[in-house]
Amino acid sequence: MNAAPSPGESQGVESDRRAVGRRCFLAVVGSAVAAGGCGSAAVQPAAVGDVPAGNLSTVPVGTLRVVDGQPLCIGRDSGGVYAMTLTCTHAGCDIGQTGSVSYEGLMCGCHGARFDRDGAVVSGPAPSPLDHFAVSVDMGGNLTVHGGQIVNADQRLSV
Ligand code: FES
Repeated sequence: MNAAPSPGESQGVESDRRAVGRRCFLAVVGSAVAAGGCGSAAVQPAAVGDVPAGNLSTVPVGTLRVVDGQPLCIGRDSGGVYAMTLTCTHAGCDIGQTGSVSYEGLMCGCHGARFDRDGAVVSGPAPSPLDHFAVSVDMGGNLTVHGGQIVNADQRLSV
């Protein structure tokens, strides 16, 4: 019941980021492309490590809520349980502290960026989606978010 990614999956996401970074650098060198091609770099999620996220029974289908005291949220849709950073990719505000988090979507209170329940940008100024993290559950139903393991946005812990 552990949704932790294989090392290859996690490295794939990081590799994609480095590739984007290289494209931005090349866009700046070729200044004619820079104005519309690169934009501001996305802020990386706050480092949190492994974080207890309550019991599975507190995350019914149709839930997206803040993990107490952490820049993280945990949710559950028809595919299973998932977790995301709440560090806004625009300037790093904690969306859970400054804005709102619900299954209907997220809003950053600093400059108004909106994200859907899956972390995709609905409206700016955020330049990129919210990162998803691996989630695991033990035999007692206790959830742990693995904040050091970025996974693809469609990955779910099947429960
Ligand atoms: S920091 Fe979130 S919109 Fe600016």
